[in-house]
Amino acid sequence: MNFDLLIKGGITATPNGIAEADIGVSGGRIVAVGSLSHAKAAKIFDAKGLHVLPGVIDTQVHFREPGNAHKEDLETGSRAAVLGGVTGVFEMPNTNPPTTTRAAIEDKLARAKNRMHCDYAFYAGATPQNVGALAALERMPGVCGVKAFLGSSTGTLLLSHPDDILAALKSGTRRMAVHSEDEDRLEARKGVRVTGDPRSHPMWRDEETARASTERVLRLAREAGRRLHVLHVTTAEELPLLAAARDLATVETTPQHLTLAAPECYERLGTYAQMNPPIRDARHRDALWQAVREGLIDVIGSDHAPHTREEKDKTYPDTPSGMPGVQTLATILLDHVNAGRMTLERFVDLTSAGAARIFGIAGKGRIARGFDADFTIVDLKKTRKIENSWIASRCGWTPFDGMTTTGWPVATIIRGKTVMRDHALTMESQGAPLRFVETLQPA
Ligand code: DOR
Repeated sequence: MNFDLLIKGGITATPNGIAEADIGVSGGRIVAVGSLSHAKAAKIFDAKGLHVLPGVIDTQVHFREPGNAHKEDLETGSRAAVLGGVTGVFEMPNTNPPTTTRAAIEDKLARAKNRMHCDYAFYAGATPQNVGALAALERMPGVCGVKAFLGSSTGTLLLSHPDDILAALKSGTRRMAVHSEDEDRLEARKGVRVTGDPRSHPMWRDEETARASTERVLRLAREAGRRLHVLHVTTAEELPLLAAARDLATVETTPQHLTLAAPECYERLGTYAQMNPPIRDARHRDALWQAVREGLIDVIGSDHAPHTREEKDKTYPDTPSGMPGVQTLATILLDHVNAGRMTLERFVDLTSAGAARIFGIAGKGRIARGFDADFTIVDLKKTRKIENSWIASRCGWTPFDGMTTTGWPVATIIRGKTVMRDHALTMESQGAPLRFVETLQPA
């Protein structure tokens, strides 16, 4: 046995459970898992006292390139990702121009090449004009699927008319991701917003805005016979609807919806807590935690959505919605693991195995022979303060500034290459497009 890399002595999360196991890596893949103490290797990673987890995949990030590189770009966003232990991302289409054509997707893939530090895939955005093209766009290499904004948020993408939503659902076969808020209700209730008071944000975009939209899109998906992924679910009211649709729908929530609550977050953070769908009160947060424990939530994505301080410092509602999160996703959730709110097994399922399962990511999402050698190595007992100064995202702030968390990623390994060690990048960009079992290309 002679490996490129031997990860030695770690507590390793494999399909058999979480127990001590060494990992042998060659050619960027896992070639052996078990007791490998006599093996030789070009490089040895001493993981004693550390947990070796499958590489964290963040299935919802906005990296803003092209069009808004003053907030973020593919290089800075993916730098933040690997510093936070993230090995792969799905990037959202509400850039400028939006990612709604073959040319726009090819442009993003060209920009990503040799600049992104983690592996990546891009969403194709749905519009009333491109519904006919979605079936082809979703099959392009490097594309994770179609995303539709059913209610308007940051950018111009919108697919709100039921006929258009149904047409999109009938165009294509892969799991379609939706931002589920009802556009008509958002329009009708704009008067609920109180100038200068972001506490009115969740009152404007109320629970009924989310519930009604989710109810409708589930009905349309059933009519079309199409799989659906409901992004950042935020209300107690949507959960029974989703539980009744487990045959076709998968569910995401975010670390911020599990960690922050209204009104406190708005009183403390002001517009820096403003996002869509909004952070709501503790009743919803508790319901989301119950859904995590019951297995109703499939994945946790960060919805990393950076905006500059200058933009956030305007007066509500002239402020953009969204907050960064790709760099803090793992530590925030590991802190919840340490607090006993979720098991480490559940963390693994929500941050890697779940994404691989529901999106069919080829060769990723578990520590097993033959899979890509992607690892998030964590020190479960390490305590550290999250600070704005540590944030690599171009926006330079985090809603979790000042929070002390226990449980930190201390190394990020992508296809056998250690790209982050002890909170610093160790090599230049190594990212490659993610591949999907439904759209494998000829060799
Ligand atoms: O708060 C949000 N910000 N929600 C979204 O749906 C979009 C995102 C962004 O791109 O800023």
